[in-house]
Amino acid sequence: MAGSKGREGEMLESIYSVLALVFILVACVELGDAATVVDVYRLIQYDLAGVPFGSRLASLNHHAGSLPFAPGADLSRTVVIIPFREVNITFLRDYIMQRQPLGGLLLLLPQNISSESREEAEEGDRNNGKELIRSELAELEKLLVHVNIPYPVYFAFEDDKITAVLADVKTNDATGQPATATTGGYKLVVSTPEPKKLASPTITNIQGWLPGLKADGDVNQLPTIAIVASYDTFGAAPALSVGSDSNGSGVVALLEIARLFSLLYSNPKTRGRYNLLFGLTSGGPYNYNGTFKWLQSFDQRLRESIDYAICLNSIGSWDDELWIHVSKPPENAYIKQVFEVSHYQRKSHKNYLK
Ligand SMILES: *[C@@H]1O[C@H](CO)[C@@H](O)[C@H](O)[C@H]1NC(C)=O
Ligand SMILES: *[C@@H]1O[C@H](CO)[C@@H](O)[C@H](O)[C@H]1NC(C)=O
Ligand SMILES: *[C@@H]1O[C@H](CO)[C@@H](O)[C@H](O)[C@H]1NC(C)=O
Ligand SMILES: *[C@@H]1O[C@H](CO)[C@@H](O)[C@H](O)[C@H]1NC(C)=O
Repeated sequence: MAGSKGREGEMLESIYSVLALVFILVACVELGDAATVVDVYRLIQYDLAGVPFGSRLASLNHHAGSLPFAPGADLSRTVVIIPFREVNITFLRDYIMQRQPLGGLLLLLPQNISSESREEAEEGDRNNGKELIRSELAELEKLLVHVNIPYPVYFAFEDDKITAVLADVKTNDATGQPATATTGGYKLVVSTPEPKKLASPTITNIQGWLPGLKADGDVNQLPTIAIVASYDTFGAAPALSVGSDSNGSGVVALLEIARLFSLLYSNPKTRGRYNLLFGLTSGGPYNYNGTFKWLQSFDQRLRESIDYAICLNSIGSWDDELWIHVSKPPENAYIKQVFEVSHYQRKSHKNYLK
């Protein structure tokens, strides 16, 4: 039994088709037809109450550039390649907020975040380095999903190919020559149609049911406990969002609870006097659209039989703490007991009553 803490779920009003994986063609103009193909992942694009967020464009065909660039340089036809370790979030935020023109942005993510070492790691403190990378990635993600970016933004994993390309681009940039077809340089190309708003995204919910045991037979008269988890996730690059805690952790817990109770319920001696309803719902970030659809699909009798619902969300976030949100002060004696015990055991002021 737990609720999520602070991180607000994004409520998307409309979502766009997102190209999970496209190819970027890095053509070395100097060498004529030499080209390298790198997998890239596009930044999300969505609307929230009519306001556009994320990257609004997908197709790309500009020369590559690198950091640092001269103040006032015209970058409207340049795709800047920035390895994650060179990202200065303050600078990037200012650049986006000031609506400075840019042809596009390609952010290079560390291949293996846990082995990536930034300052701390270099000083021998690996764990701190890891944590630093994670928190900086989270900060970068937060920035990118909350702004409206009028050019294509892509992510790619750092590898030998792209690192070699970047080294060449840096060498070219250092000469002060603009990278054009005539001076030589690399061109980054993503040929793709512009994304369209999804009229009605597919929402798929999964449900399970364990009937309780009633002495005189009619299980329809038993109260029901609903156990629910949302299984989808949200992130700057949808194709890269593994969602291990949003909401993989809730899904794992739900499946395990279902497994244990199906064992107990297979024997009349250990079958409870409650029906158990399990629900894995989709569309969490999409204004809980899946949960909404699921609730609507219930007939009135089922809806009225639900004594209480337990939503498992983000239960992997905290070391050994369990957070509980209740929608209203609990009236049900058992819930009250669980809630009060957890309240009593909590170490700080972290549980709260919504
Ligand atoms: C898990 O999903 C729910 C929606 O069902 C959402 O409110 C919550 O914020 C998600 N957890 C995280 C960490 O985003
Ligand atoms: C990051 O950018 C800001 C704003 O441009 C600048 O003031 C700051 O010195 C930069 N930080 C580093 C570490 O380069
Ligand atoms: C990632 O880094 C960790 C820690 O340095 C290492 O144990 C692991 O093998 C690496 N994984 C890959 C796929 O390189
Ligand atoms: C769910 O999505 C449908 C369209 O797909 C929309 O009509 C409905 O209003 C949405 N419900 C919520 C609660 O957002």
